[in-house]
Amino acid sequence: MRFVPLPLLLLAGCAVSPTHEPAMAIDHHSHAEPHRVRSTHLDLDLQLDFTDHIARGSVTHTVQRLDATAPLVLDTRDLTIADVTDQNGASLPFTLGDEDPIRGRALTIPLPPGLDRVTVRYRTAPTAEAMQWLAPEQTAGTSPFLFTQGQAILTRTWIPLQDSPGVRVTWTARIQAPTGLLPVMSAMRRTEDGRVSTFVMDRPVPSYLIALACGELVSHRISDRCAVWAEPATMPLASRELADMEQMVAACEQLFGPYRWGRYDVLVLPPSFPFGGMENPCLTFATPTILAGDKSLVSLIAHELAHSWSGNLVTNATWRDFWLNEGFTVYLEHRIMEHVYGVDRAAMETVLGMQELRAELQELGAADQVLHVDLDGRNPDDGMTSVPYQKGAALLRRLEQLFGRERLDGFLRAWFDEHAFQSLTTATFLQFLDERLLRHAPDLAKQVDLHTWIEAPGLPTDAPTPQSALFDAVDATLGAFANGTAAAALDTRGWVTQQWLRLLAGLVAPSRSQLAELDAAFHFTDSGNCEILAAWLLLTIAGDYRAADARLDAFLTTVGRRKFLKPLYQALLKRPDGKARALSLYERARPRYHAVSQRTLDAMLGWPAEPAAAR
Ligand code: BES
Ligand code: ZN
Repeated sequence: MRFVPLPLLLLAGCAVSPTHEPAMAIDHHSHAEPHRVRSTHLDLDLQLDFTDHIARGSVTHTVQRLDATAPLVLDTRDLTIADVTDQNGASLPFTLGDEDPIRGRALTIPLPPGLDRVTVRYRTAPTAEAMQWLAPEQTAGTSPFLFTQGQAILTRTWIPLQDSPGVRVTWTARIQAPTGLLPVMSAMRRTEDGRVSTFVMDRPVPSYLIALACGELVSHRISDRCAVWAEPATMPLASRELADMEQMVAACEQLFGPYRWGRYDVLVLPPSFPFGGMENPCLTFATPTILAGDKSLVSLIAHELAHSWSGNLVTNATWRDFWLNEGFTVYLEHRIMEHVYGVDRAAMETVLGMQELRAELQELGAADQVLHVDLDGRNPDDGMTSVPYQKGAALLRRLEQLFGRERLDGFLRAWFDEHAFQSLTTATFLQFLDERLLRHAPDLAKQVDLHTWIEAPGLPTDAPTPQSALFDAVDATLGAFANGTAAAALDTRGWVTQQWLRLLAGLVAPSRSQLAELDAAFHFTDSGNCEILAAWLLLTIAGDYRAADARLDAFLTTVGRRKFLKPLYQALLKRPDGKARALSLYERARPRYHAVSQRTLDAMLGWPAEPAAAR
């Protein structure tokens, strides 16, 4: 799809050199043609069938007709379309195009003159990739559960719509669910009446932020605008862990301007959720693997909250601009963490992020090391590496280092305020950066080569190196262990989670006996902290320390978070007997994973594609 961005200006007196952005930004991942007919509002009406794993109902699009003769083109994937009608209920012809392996099928609806509302009646497939229908055994309780995951291009598997981040819609929803199962959505709840709940989102959002979950859910109030949602059994732990939500919202408001979404709630999902978190407006979706019991992993909440500014308010126009969402968000996340938990905590997390980036850069091809990554012909999910996150955040830290916090904060605030509820490209960012920051301080601007930062692979030489004094102690300990000090004799008193993660990341191929010694001293195999556990299990696979096998098995068959699964399966594959072991584990675990994690692991393990008939 195409849309018209602000004119691309290339400016004298600054370090911005031409980006090769065309005059029209193209979203290669959508069939929609919003520059001709644009959907502006949706009314969704769905019944959830937990027996057959199907959602049935309709969506009504209100459209803006920029080209009076053009059809409405929607994205779909694996949807069965029953019929299409106009605002008077008269049926309209439609065509469903051929299946594109990445984009799915275009639903094209020619529009008679004067028509601006179109209703599509449809049902989803049980295999709809956005939706995961969980059996009671996969939850913390005794009821089934459903959640959706739209980003990047999966919303089209449960709603026929213009599935591009450059198209924003307001929306309402009416959701019917079985008794005892409560639907929640990424919007404000309007009513709840027996089995029917209604929702409204009155601010325009991109399609990937429309989300639904339904299960045995309760809520716990944190403040007037913040609450935690979870299954009853998870709530005691979840509500204690997330008790600082209000402080986080207040911190981000103080730094970057008003929170514009009304409520900020967090839904803690069952462990198969494929991501750490997802910034669904009004209602962040989060993995239960952040519930460590000591708030040590709550930076994930700071991250998803920060998206309420970077991502949800100001959105990447296409998936190649994804770094505008994630790089800004990681930078804001660290600022929130610093504000609420102090500089030491934020510094450690920043260092760990850069460490992860440097490690991943070793593995990635040059094209994938670029912030403004070319994803044409690829699944946008492939762009989800630490590059948009950590290299993007590093660019903002570089600007902070050059221009000072005060000026960068003013710039960021203006970026959010002046582009609220818009979807923007990298070119627009560069133009705004030049107008508001660079051209006012040409001597400083000369010191950052933005073209290299945005368009070149690798980490530019001027990337700041974050420091953490608390890691110096860890590095000394690592040195002592490498030089033969027994694990039990290492000084780890008072260490926090981030220090343990630094230790685990710094151990170089520990042997089986070293692993046994470390485990005896520090009980990593029994850790209740999933970040520590995942980092530890990775080492145990590589070092063939089989005493952790049972824990690995339990972890892989309950947790569906892709960030943990991918390296663990990868490590198994590197072992001599690993392929068979990985496949036998995967065979048992796969049915419990969300389609997003399945897709990644299927490709990695060479899992046979399901026949089309089964989809
Ligand atoms: N928006 C992302 C998750 C996402 C990105 C889903 C792309 C689908 C496609 C979310 O904000 C995120 O970045 N989650 C991270 C956690 C974060 C602390 C880095 C995750 O899930 O690991
Ligand atoms: Zn994010």
